[in-house]
Amino acid sequence: MSDTEKPPKPSAAGMRKGLTDYGDADFSLFLRRAFIKGAGYTEDALSRPVVGIANTGSSYNPCHGNAASLVEAVKRGVMLAGGLPIEFPTISVHESFSHPTSMFLRNLMSMDTEEMIKAQPMDAVVMIGGCDKTVPAQLMGAASAGVPAIQLVTGSMLTGSHRAERVGACTDCRRFWAMYRGDEIDAAEIDEVNNQLVASVGTCSVMGTASTMACIAEALGMMLPGGATPPAVTSARIRTAEQTGTQAVAMIKARLTPDRILTPHAFENALCVLLAIGGSTNGIIHLAAIAGRCGIRIDLDRLAQISDKVPVLVNLKPSGNHYMEDLHAAGGLVAVLREIAPFLHLNTLTVTGRTLGEEIDNADAAFPQEVVRPLANPVYPRGGIVFLRGNLAPGGAIIKQSAASETLLEHESRTVVFDGLEDLARRIDDPELDVEASDILVLKNIGPKGAPGMPEAGYIPIPRKLAREGVKDMVRISDGRMSGTAAGTIVLHVTPESADGGPLALAQTGDRIRLSVSERRLDLLISDEEFARRRAQAPAPPTRDEDNRGYRNLFMRTVTQADTGCDFDFLQSTQFNDVVPIDRQ
Ligand code: FES
Repeated sequence: MSDTEKPPKPSAAGMRKGLTDYGDADFSLFLRRAFIKGAGYTEDALSRPVVGIANTGSSYNPCHGNAASLVEAVKRGVMLAGGLPIEFPTISVHESFSHPTSMFLRNLMSMDTEEMIKAQPMDAVVMIGGCDKTVPAQLMGAASAGVPAIQLVTGSMLTGSHRAERVGACTDCRRFWAMYRGDEIDAAEIDEVNNQLVASVGTCSVMGTASTMACIAEALGMMLPGGATPPAVTSARIRTAEQTGTQAVAMIKARLTPDRILTPHAFENALCVLLAIGGSTNGIIHLAAIAGRCGIRIDLDRLAQISDKVPVLVNLKPSGNHYMEDLHAAGGLVAVLREIAPFLHLNTLTVTGRTLGEEIDNADAAFPQEVVRPLANPVYPRGGIVFLRGNLAPGGAIIKQSAASETLLEHESRTVVFDGLEDLARRIDDPELDVEASDILVLKNIGPKGAPGMPEAGYIPIPRKLAREGVKDMVRISDGRMSGTAAGTIVLHVTPESADGGPLALAQTGDRIRLSVSERRLDLLISDEEFARRRAQAPAPPTRDEDNRGYRNLFMRTVTQADTGCDFDFLQSTQFNDVVPIDRQ
């Protein structure tokens, strides 16, 4: 370790923290004070505890379109508590403005977040995230940086209205697009819908990945209680921001570092919440990545221990009917936490310094509402997400059963295989495509390395000729991801991926595949001999010039598979001492 990499002395605080190394610490501080005074700060201000504010506002990121007003409110909260707020930028990642995918950039954002927290003098940090990959990136970075950190999200967008029907991104984006592909609506109407799907700044209005990660951050204890659900354009969101700033100062005094909050019990709580909210399948990957930074392994084979007990209670799209603003009106996440309290570890610490159990007790009283169901009357009787294994997925795969067609959860059929996104685009709408409604669609080469960046293309469109016949769902299998806003009988995250030697690469059109959610199996029905023959004849994966330089080169060399969170191997903890769910056998 070089001198510049030495962690700051415990006594270093405020502006004395993490001095630039000139070989003379007093001169470094002298210079730092001189420069920051150029921005008009007084000695009194510079003597205060410093709260950094990671601002991810960007004109390319409408989900963070309220970031400026949140920064202002956080600053107010910090100053009310006697601290000095200092805002700094990091990368901002929006789903629709990230090529090749936002997942490709998540780890870059986590490195940016970690390094800027460590490089700049701050005693605590408020991280303003929201859009899908930003919150996991920030939590991963904070877990590695080790500085007291508190998550603030931008909040969900408002819903719009199309011909008197309430709509919101992005479950309705996909539903209307499927109707357009099936000739149920025309080009003029799909343009009309386009104006209504995103009615304001803020994150997607359903239980997609952004809403899921907001709820997970609160369940982990990394966010103020009640912080997950206030919509972006409400006074409640601004007040949450002010309170977050105030709490950040308190966290400095309490030395509330992420390692005290991000414990195995906290991750188990987060898994329970993920299941109960009918959360995004992406939540599994992100939780594995955050846990990996803390030396905690998420054992998906043990997921059944809790998914068999914790049902889906939240009636939000895509598993249900409502929108995120309705969950807020129904009391927010605490309404869920109260219901699943018997399954939670209530003694976990939160950013308030109190336990999750104390925060549930402190919350406003429950009231009658229809968005969060009681345990006795769930939206779906089992956990939303199921982990599968089989000869097609020796490292596992997942399916969101709560958003699938019940009739397809046990299904065996002939397959139609696509070799990658280009092949899919070329043939999926071909009227000559040999495909029937009962077939299983397979898409290869969209895993972490395959595309690269594991695109959300696992939601393979229904072939147009079947869509026109009214087919709404088919079993679809890939090594990619799907948006948390999507629904269907879709098997994802097949591991190892086809571009990394996984058996999925060996599947051929005409093979039979058997999916059994009850048995948690996914199998390609060919003999071991045939497997071996195909493997021996399989061509080497094609090489791509663009994989050889820059960040993409780093990504291709070090990204891990979905079961360990698609983090870079060198960013994960070097020691994994804990496993979640905690074994109760
Ligand atoms: Fe940002 Fe959905 S695109 S949350």
